[in-house]
Amino acid sequence: MKTYKEYILEADKKGIAMGHFNISNLEALHGIYNAAKKLGVPIIIGLSEGEEEFFGKNEAVAVVRALRARDNYPIFLNADHHYSFEAVKNSLDAGFDSAVIDLVKLPLEENIKITKQCVEYARELSKKENREILIEAELGFIGSSSKILDKIPDGVSEATMTTPEDAKHFVDETGIDLLAPSIGNVHGMVKSGNPRLHPERVKDIRKATGIPLVLHGGSGSMDEDFIACIKEGVDIVHINTEIRVAFTKALRKALNDSPEEITPYKYLPPAVDAVEKVVEARLKLFSGMK
Ligand code: G3H
Ligand code: ZN
Repeated sequence: MKTYKEYILEADKKGIAMGHFNISNLEALHGIYNAAKKLGVPIIIGLSEGEEEFFGKNEAVAVVRALRARDNYPIFLNADHHYSFEAVKNSLDAGFDSAVIDLVKLPLEENIKITKQCVEYARELSKKENREILIEAELGFIGSSSKILDKIPDGVSEATMTTPEDAKHFVDETGIDLLAPSIGNVHGMVKSGNPRLHPERVKDIRKATGIPLVLHGGSGSMDEDFIACIKEGVDIVHINTEIRVAFTKALRKALNDSPEEITPYKYLPPAVDAVEKVVEARLKLFSGMK
């Protein structure tokens, strides 16, 4: 099996992207993994600090490692949106394959300092445990909630998109493996429609930094925007809200349809299937499949 980094570089070379999907529970993981295996594509499972706390850090590592070993399948685990060095360290120590240090709310120099500390720690641990560990960081605010939004979050606009100059400075100073910039993307799905993405900004940032880019806030974006951004240097796309919507709608319907049903393995399968459908469609798009 190739390494995580090798899969990212392979996606880059092919002009496609890997899918990163967030989970809060095992049922969503089943749906995502079923879709990935059906299509035969590598997959990244993400847990934010809140998702990780609910699921359990060690439990997430145990399940993902078990699937990877049992099926010899490229499934990787990411500590998504962690807000401190300690939180990143705890997840990496538990066995996560990568972490996203998200300090966009701090002043730039503070962000650089702590991000660098995460990179140094990851390199040390990687040597000590003889395994590949990647660090991603955010630059530019894109909102912070994977939910349905009444409007574009305050503080997100074309004017606040990440500039190629800032991105280069940040990458040079921190030594991160992956960069998540602001290029028109927002976390969550805006009721009236998500803003358009800016592939030309992706191109400029990619050219300036030379490292793989990650598109956060994928839910609700247009297919043609995804394709254009992937072509210009996005190698991983994050999707969360679409999964939450699919899971919750299907579960609500199953419970409403059978109010007497109390057996979880009877009312949860439609929610697993709903997640699988969403993920399959997204993976096909990101992988350039028809
Ligand atoms: O890190 C998670 C993602 O960026 C998810 O964003 O909820 O808009 O799909 P989304
Ligand atoms: Zn995100």
